Amino acid sequence: MTELTTLIHDASEIVVGPGDDDTLERYEDAALAVVDGRVAAVGPTDEIVAEHPPENASHAIDADGRSVIPGFVDSHTHGLFAGDRSDEFAAKLRGKEYQEILAEGGGILRTVRAVREASDEQLLSNLLGHLDTMLAHGTTTVEIKSGYGLDTGTELRMLDVIRRADDAHPIDVVPTFMGAHAVPEGSDAEAYTERVLDDQLPAVADQGVAEFCDVFCEEDVFSVAQSRRVLEAGVEHGLTPKVHAEEFVRLGGAQLAADLDAASADHLLHANADDRAALADAGVTPVLLPGTAFSLGADYADARAFLDEGGSVAVATDFNPNCHSQSMGFAIALACVGMEMTPAEALLAGTHGGARALDRAGEADGADGADGVGTLREGMAADVTIVDAPSHVHVPYNFGVNTVETVLKRGEPVSG
Ligand code: NIG
Ligand code: FE
Repeated sequence: MTELTTLIHDASEIVVGPGDDDTLERYEDAALAVVDGRVAAVGPTDEIVAEHPPENASHAIDADGRSVIPGFVDSHTHGLFAGDRSDEFAAKLRGKEYQEILAEGGGILRTVRAVREASDEQLLSNLLGHLDTMLAHGTTTVEIKSGYGLDTGTELRMLDVIRRADDAHPIDVVPTFMGAHAVPEGSDAEAYTERVLDDQLPAVADQGVAEFCDVFCEEDVFSVAQSRRVLEAGVEHGLTPKVHAEEFVRLGGAQLAADLDAASADHLLHANADDRAALADAGVTPVLLPGTAFSLGADYADARAFLDEGGSVAVATDFNPNCHSQSMGFAIALACVGMEMTPAEALLAGTHGGARALDRAGEADGADGADGVGTLREGMAADVTIVDAPSHVHVPYNFGVNTVETVLKRGEPVSG
């Protein structure tokens, strides 16, 4: 027999997801009923409560004038790492360039040294700590990339720790293999690409943890041709492509993502109109990462152009040692203030947009039998964030502050 697990009632609003014309669909004075971990009904409190009385629920939550939104789907992070690069943040503020630091063996390569030295238990404990912070800030699904190993053994170790964290933590963790994240010291891009193809990818496929394959397609990192080879081999091994594209220069990663039907093209600070059109035509989700531009002091991606040309975007944190924020609320605030997105657009980009970038948006994306996430429509996973404010606008409006009060995963309270 189906059982009413949770009833949330008397919310000042419930944000459901994108409406028909991609505006935000919401109810005021609203309630949401959860059966078997999925949204069973959402609508005005009086209607929902008549059908699903609070006394029949294992948990009844009086949202009492607060706003209820889908849990955030953070679709781009490098959240598993070791070491401390706060000194690089200070150096960048004094004018040092990100790529200059990398060329000197710092940046990603410094994190690679720290990860290779760390034990599995240290890595797991670091990741679980970050997941706790993300959950407290309303994230219910997060993508985590490998890519701080750059050798087969350490890449496999990272993916195994990501899997263990997924098992141990209420947040759903989506694993991405990113062996082509940087060229390791003592190698060159061409020779290292061969190692990714010949050694890493077959071992990653055998291990069976990774779902996506990502490449840093960038000047002085991996060329378009090298990126293509890695991503095409990834597809042969069952991994869906993603691309770090046009972050520092316009190299062609967005067109590559479109060509390969990637799930997403990410960063896109230097994407132009042709790139935007190619991504939209191919149905590739652009993932915008305003925290990275903020921490680099760079110009933001042109979110308005993506949106005004009829596309939709995702917004994610890019949490990593170079962009040290786990907060989707902060990314959404930056999306509004730095990229001129409306609070409604930014909120949808951090929920439904993120789900699209991870092939988890439900029916439309054929989520492979898994529940869809990122909206609170009937039948979707009941991953819910309750904001301690009367509307979703307060998420970016109250910037720098965590407005999240309670988080539910599949209808069960897991934080707050
Ligand atoms: O998405 N751009 C490449 N990768 C990361 C940065 C990783 C790092 O600096 O450790 C990014 O921003
Ligand atoms: Fe990244």
